[in-house]
Amino acid sequence: KKLTIGLIPGDGIGREVIPAGKQVLQALPSQFGLNFEFVDLNAGFDYFKKTGTALPEETVQILKQSCDGALFGAVSSPTTKVAGYSSPIVALRKKMGLYANVRPVKWVEGVGRPVDMVIVRENTEDLYIKEERIFEKDGQKVAEAIKRISENASKKIGKIALEIALKRQKVRELGGSSLHTSPSITVVHKSNVLSVSDGLFRETVKGVYQSDLARYGSIEYKEQIVDSMVYKMFRQPEEFDVVVAPNLYGDILSDGAAALVGSLGVVSSANVGDDFVIGEPTHGSAPDIEGKGISNPVATIRSTAMMLEFMGYQEPAAKIYAAVDANLKENKVVTPDLGGNSTTQEVVEDIIKRL
Ligand code: NAI
Ligand code: MG
Repeated sequence: KKLTIGLIPGDGIGREVIPAGKQVLQALPSQFGLNFEFVDLNAGFDYFKKTGTALPEETVQILKQSCDGALFGAVSSPTTKVAGYSSPIVALRKKMGLYANVRPVKWVEGVGRPVDMVIVRENTEDLYIKEERIFEKDGQKVAEAIKRISENASKKIGKIALEIALKRQKVRELGGSSLHTSPSITVVHKSNVLSVSDGLFRETVKGVYQSDLARYGSIEYKEQIVDSMVYKMFRQPEEFDVVVAPNLYGDILSDGAAALVGSLGVVSSANVGDDFVIGEPTHGSAPDIEGKGISNPVATIRSTAMMLEFMGYQEPAAKIYAAVDANLKENKVVTPDLGGNSTTQEVVEDIIKRL
């Protein structure tokens, strides 16, 4: 089967790591029956400086019309406000209907702390609708922000989180051992205080689970209040499999969880909608190491596997995850952020060799 993949390197080391994802796809063994065609697409701050737009309409149209999936590198966002500039990845998520941000945090067996969880963050509402206002009361300023939780978005995120729990179980069965022998889902909320808004989130996700026990019954259902979730996540990270959360809690939890596995250079993500997925390393454009050929390609390679997984190709995804784990476990051909002295390209080749 032929798959067309959009490549959006963006800025800085995005241009060094996206080719790693491409090479891994090209090197997939023929047993999987996949052929890839690649389309290079523009976006980013450098592109904005040249043309006045950070995300050309052409990029969006090509993704929608001719791509089966895509990989996004990183963008450099200016620290001061630049007129006319807004983040292309935030715009892409909106334009492509990518309502879930999926971020796995996984150890390599025997190395570091045992953790193999994925945080599924709602990507469209909560406090991120940015409906804020400021007014004066008794001569003092008061600011308010609206936290919006809808039944519709909560249903969608609940359903995709449950599907991810099933999919992960399948990848585990294909790819060998793991911390978990059966799937579980943990719904994060603060409905002891925000009983209406977080209450709706919790009840809706629970409702999705209960409405189809024939499909989801093998998944253990759990709930955790967000503050004690932070505590438990650092005390006993091995307990969590799929964690589903409203936007803000998901943002905070996922950055915190990345600290459990060391380098930003190994943490992957996927932006997922009903009919499209964009794999994206969670790190930025890393200007401090740009051009040195030492950026860690692992986050991007894992994001490439995630893209395949969400496109429905679990077997090649499992193969890539296993090759990355084997490379990390040996801990010989790794980049300087992991204490090694290998180059980006050497790591790519070592991982390809293990496919
Ligand atoms: P960063 O993630 O680019 O870098 C943080 C630190 O981690 C740096 O020391 C960097 O060298 C290291 N690092 C990151 N990725 C690495 C990799 N693959 N291999 C080895 N080392 C790696 O975050 P920073 O420095 O805060 O931001 C730099 C630029 O990136 C900013 O313009 C920021 O706005 C942008 N950014 C973009 C993101 C995106 O595109 N989604 C996310 C985060 C930041
Ligand atoms: Mg964040």
